[in-house]
This record gives sequence, C-alpha cells and structure tokens, in this order.
Amino acid sequence: MRIIETIHEARQALVEREGSIGLVPTMGYLHAGHVSLIEQARKDCDRVVVSVFVNPLQFGPSEDLDRYPRDLERDAHLAEEAGADILFTPSVTEMYPRSTQVSLAVKGLSERLCGASRPGHFDGVATVVAKLFQIIQPSHAYFGQKDAQQLAIIQCMVEDLNFPIEIVPCPTLREPDGLAMSSRNVYLSVEERNQATILNNALSKVTTEVEKGNITQANEVVDLVKGMIQTAPLGEIEYVEALTYPYLQPITHLKDQRVIIALAVHFGQTRLIDNVIWTGK
Ligand code: PAJ
Repeated sequence: MRIIETIHEARQALVEREGSIGLVPTMGYLHAGHVSLIEQARKDCDRVVVSVFVNPLQFGPSEDLDRYPRDLERDAHLAEEAGADILFTPSVTEMYPRSTQVSLAVKGLSERLCGASRPGHFDGVATVVAKLFQIIQPSHAYFGQKDAQQLAIIQCMVEDLNFPIEIVPCPTLREPDGLAMSSRNVYLSVEERNQATILNNALSKVTTEVEKGNITQANEVVDLVKGMIQTAPLGEIEYVEALTYPYLQPITHLKDQRVIIALAVHFGQTRLIDNVIWTGK
C-alpha cells in the first residue's frame, strides 16, 4: 500500500484509468466499521483508495475538531490489512491552500436531524467529498448507513451534479453489545459507555414492536424510543425522529413507507448518532 500526501501524487498514481477504482472517504481513527467499507471496496474494485482527512469545513466552532482522535500509523496498518492500495492523507493546506471561495450548499435534506443542530456541517461534507471525487475520480464510493443523512445527501449530490460514480451503501457495524461503532466512542467514560447501549436497544425494541404490528404510527415510535433512552440518566436526547428515507419527510403512518428512525443523544461531551431503516408494516 502506498501512502500519498499530495493531490499531484494521487493523480499521478491513478493516471492509468483502466479498471474500477473504489474510494472509501474517512476521517481516520479507523475501526471495524471503516474496515468493512474497505473490504467491500476490495471485493468490488480493481483498485482501492482510502482517504484519511479530518475536514475542518464540516466542524462547527464549538465542536471537536482539535481533539478529534488521530492515529495515522494504526490507520495505515488497518487500511493495508483490509486491502487498500493507496492511503490518501492530505494536510489541511493541501486540501484548502487558501480560504475557499466556491463550495457546495446542501438544501432541504440538510435542514433536519443532524443538520438542524450542525449548521453548515453537510455543506462541509459535500464540499470535501466532491473534492475527493475530483481528485481520485473513483468509479465507486463507499459510505456507511450509520451516517444515513450523510449517505442520502451524497447520493443526491452525485445525482444533482452528475458525478459518474456509484455510491455503495454499507450496513452499520456494531460492538457485541449493539453500540454502533464510531471513532468518537473512545471519548465515553465507562459509565457512559454502559448506558449508551440503550440506543441500539431502543431501536431494536421499536423495530420488533412494528414488526409485531403493535405500533403503526410515527409518534408512537418516537415516544417509545425517547422513553427508553430517558431511563439512561447520563443520556441527553438531541433528537429522535421517524421520517421517510432517503428524503427525510415527516410521516404519520408507517405502513408501506421506507422509514428511518434516527437519533442523536449526548453522553457527557460525546454526541452519538444511530438509526434503523425499514419499510413500515
Ligand atoms: P467518518 O466518520 O470517519 O466515517 C467514514 C465512513 O465510515 C462513513 O461513510 C461512515 O458512515 C462510515 N462508518 C462510520 N461508522 C460506521 C459503522 N459503525 N459501520 C459502518 N460504517 C461506518 O463520515 C465521515 O468520516 C466524513 O463525514 C467524511 C465522509 C469522510 C467526509 O469528511
């Protein structure tokens, strides 16, 4: 595996356009969730590029940009083991040599869920992902369903701006107790980590209740999930919502709708997100 730090070198390495190229964009501190995306890209594509770039454009002023966990040596090891050919690790000045004059703005889809409390976040995500697409020019790009709103926005971006790239959604990888894997889980204290299992428990419980036909309305879903999370004293709910997926429209009945139940909950300083997506009964 080659580690490449400059855009020029990345273009040189990929100048030969024959065959498929899979891109897995990440912010590093790789875990098994990221690894599963790289492995999927390895199965599908002739060449696999993993990017590690903590993108300042997508962090708000009071967010965790400075303390975002980093370990490039470990990332390189994990990416290589998972089958990456190139690890692209540009610096901030390589990606943004001067203040950005032209960037992408995400409309409707960015107004709900995480977008509501993180103004500009998805503009920053779309802008950096578009830049990575231009630099690497992949045929396929891999995104996790854990960040379902991000995935929906990137899918719309390639449609709206005609990127000739297949977006491949990948399922959420979880710890043995069900907590969705996240680079931010390392921030959790032991007590917070224990209580955070309530998130997946609540999403699983509501899924079962809908499957059994005990719940048919979106507001019942939200009430059940909120009620369960409120039993965890360290958890502070930012949102729990039941919306259509991928366009994130409000709903009342679940039946025959593709529905996302999405949540963001703070445990101390750590903001965790999770979701399930299914077709209502
Ligand atoms: P990051 O949080 O590092 O995530 C990189 C990719 O890994 C995203 O597509 C994310 O959905 C996926 N991922 C994270 N946790 C996962 C899990 N438990 N199971 C499966 N996939 C998981 O998302 C970003 O970085 C950035 O916003 C980025 C797209 C790189 C743009 O800066």
